[in-house]
Amino acid sequence: MANLEIVYRKQKGLAASKGELESFINNYVNDQISDSEMTEWLKAVCIHGMTAEELSGFIDIMVHSGRHMDFSHLDSFVGDKHSTGGVGDKISLIIAPLLSAAGIAVPMISGRALGHTGGTLDKLESIPGFSTNLSLTQFQKQVETIGIAMIGQTDDICPADKKMYALRDATGTVESFPLIVGSIMSKKIAEGLNGLVLDVKCGNGAFMKTYRDAQILGTLLKESGENSGIITDVVFSNMNQPLGQFSGCWCEVKEALECLKGNGPKDTLELTLELASRLMVQGKLAENFIESRAILNTLLDDGSAYSKFVEMVKVQGGNSDSFLKPDYVHIPSDELIVASQKSGFVEIMDTYSIGIACALAGCGYMKSNDNIDPTAGLECFVKVGTEVRVGDPLFRIFNSNKSKLVKAENKLKKVVTIGESQKTEQLIFNSN
Ligand code: URA
Repeated sequence: MANLEIVYRKQKGLAASKGELESFINNYVNDQISDSEMTEWLKAVCIHGMTAEELSGFIDIMVHSGRHMDFSHLDSFVGDKHSTGGVGDKISLIIAPLLSAAGIAVPMISGRALGHTGGTLDKLESIPGFSTNLSLTQFQKQVETIGIAMIGQTDDICPADKKMYALRDATGTVESFPLIVGSIMSKKIAEGLNGLVLDVKCGNGAFMKTYRDAQILGTLLKESGENSGIITDVVFSNMNQPLGQFSGCWCEVKEALECLKGNGPKDTLELTLELASRLMVQGKLAENFIESRAILNTLLDDGSAYSKFVEMVKVQGGNSDSFLKPDYVHIPSDELIVASQKSGFVEIMDTYSIGIACALAGCGYMKSNDNIDPTAGLECFVKVGTEVRVGDPLFRIFNSNKSKLVKAENKLKKVVTIGESQKTEQLIFNSN
């Protein structure tokens, strides 16, 4: 079937066969389909979705657009976590070395900033010298020798997701159940995992705004994982406020380093432990979540998790000396404080707009050819429920580009609702 015919069919809500979809996706990877044709198809998928059969074929095609790793010769359990995307979510930077220090092999493939959400790859690349672009052989060897590697989609591994992910970001075609499931699960299946934990974010800063939608997404992800023989747990976590104190690239790396030393914001550590515990039990490294937490806390307190991160950074070409005095690296030239105009309690934080403000400041891609500014970031002084007085600082926004900074500041002036009632947000909703 001609490429355009597949687009027209999806626009009418009709499914394509696996063979048709396979040639369509592979033609796109091989530059035989233009970005604009693919965008029409992505838009049609956002509107009409996919049948269960189409989705399972789509995931398989995405995985086989590149190579599939095999770690079956390793003695260790091979596990990973992936999040559906949030603001201030630096958990991958903490959980990967933590699990590796616990004896789980972690071959992690991550993505860049998508829409208003931050990207693990952009954060990792703010570490001076760090390479996220390893060949399949290098990636596999590193996991075998040091038990951890963190990379992005490459021409070898998940090339279809690499190309479509960037296009979805530039064309507003991110928020679709099958496209999110295909993107996440192709990366995770290609990793050759035994176990996976998925952090499905829910709230005004997540792709899934309601718990019902988050549950639909969680179920699709879990089913896809288990159909591929991966033990899959799902944790639903709250994205009605940014996670931790900082959102950005280098500033999130700095916060992750604090967490790896057992310090750092409580919410970030708590969610890390919740997610990591699932994999510890899956991999039979602990009998239950209580035992898991005890082991994981020891690995944070005794420096093992931090050392594992440093070891990985060095092997991937990064300069770990930058961690010794992190405040002297990527120093922003400008900063602005956004202060409260009212007294009362923080009732609502519009986390989607906070994420957009971060992207405007230089932490994300407002246009596909934007460059990330590693000095850019946001410090949040409040959470939902914090009491403030007129003039109290709500945010500090910083970067090295004044005009972008002012745009971000303008956005931030409208993102917090102050009222009279003191609400709280629970961190974790439920798990399955
Ligand atoms: N994370 C991904 O890897 N892909 C998506 O589509 C959304 C979040």
